[in-house]
Amino acid sequence: MPELDLPQRQAPDTLMLTGFWYRALPADRVAPRQLYKATLLEIPLVIGRDREGHPFALRDACPHRGMPLHGGQFDGENIECPYHGWKFNGHSGQCQLIPSLTADQTMKVDRVYAGSFACEERDGFLWVFIPDAGPPSAGFTPRAEPSASAPQIEKFSDKYKFAYLQAEMPVSIDHGIIGLMDPAHGPFVHQAWWWRSQHSIHEKRKNFEPIPNGFRMSAHKPSSNSAPYKLLRLFADADSVTTTIDFVLPNLRSETIRAGKYWFSSLTTVTPITRNQCRIDVVAAWNLFRWVPFASELLKFVFAKFVEQDRRTMEMQAEGLKHNPHLMLIDDADRPAKWYFQLKAAHLEAKRTGTEMRHPMAGPVTLKWRS
Ligand code: FES
Ligand SMILES: [Fe+2]
Repeated sequence: MPELDLPQRQAPDTLMLTGFWYRALPADRVAPRQLYKATLLEIPLVIGRDREGHPFALRDACPHRGMPLHGGQFDGENIECPYHGWKFNGHSGQCQLIPSLTADQTMKVDRVYAGSFACEERDGFLWVFIPDAGPPSAGFTPRAEPSASAPQIEKFSDKYKFAYLQAEMPVSIDHGIIGLMDPAHGPFVHQAWWWRSQHSIHEKRKNFEPIPNGFRMSAHKPSSNSAPYKLLRLFADADSVTTTIDFVLPNLRSETIRAGKYWFSSLTTVTPITRNQCRIDVVAAWNLFRWVPFASELLKFVFAKFVEQDRRTMEMQAEGLKHNPHLMLIDDADRPAKWYFQLKAAHLEAKRTGTEMRHPMAGPVTLKWRS
């Protein structure tokens, strides 16, 4: 594979990709007939559910004078701006009423829109589609519809357990993502007696292959030096335990562990809130150990610990990044990070030229590192 990236180029450009779905809020935190604030890609949003519970998202700025709409009255259908009382439909953003108009004033109220975004509920989260352009804050345009639905977690049986975890990180989306896919920090950041120690570092070889908009760590037997995997191997038939990890633009990391009829599946996203802030959402579904008392509590505890260790690390990293140090990515441990930057660049180039995206990976690659 040609080496395209000089170390200097790795300084994340903090560019946030539009034209994708992003997780906005956990679904269980959004009650019907209430309004909530959220920020995605520096866009302020007001999020709510109508009377039937269907979620919606509007730009949190009235097209009249920019007043945030989340402070307005909401009757389960329309939001009333707290400044001059203009009313907007929650779903379409279309204006329903301008109270100041007199009977003979013929302004076409229904041609005014508060910017509306497609919003879907999936696996316990409300997702919002951020289109390439707009919607503009002072708008006469209905919203742009996405071509596909929001991403979902793969599930392999009808019955399963489900949990999510969130952590905010004071770093750009790029640092959030390359931290997530970084294989070399494990022994230093995620130490615990029940997980693994620094002394367990050993050489690893993993096969990667290109997939549309991303790459896959091909199905492999999980790392042998961690206790939970040892347990799993004992529990299920040893040879049948496989893990697959995919990364797909703009921010999706999905991991699937299968052991016979048992499975664990997660979809982790790193969501750009602002240029210097991102949020990690880990959502997992599993049918493993479903009948074991406290198994899901234990699993949540382990995940929470991991995420907290990552969060603390990135908080410290943000200190170091304040002064724009030169950074580098090394082979092979940082190769996934290089692919991420290359994928992002290829995606933007394809969009700019209106051509098909040229995948930065020519074919399967084996990477080696010690961790
Ligand atoms: S600012 Fe919203 S109605 Fe005037
Ligand atoms: Fe980590």
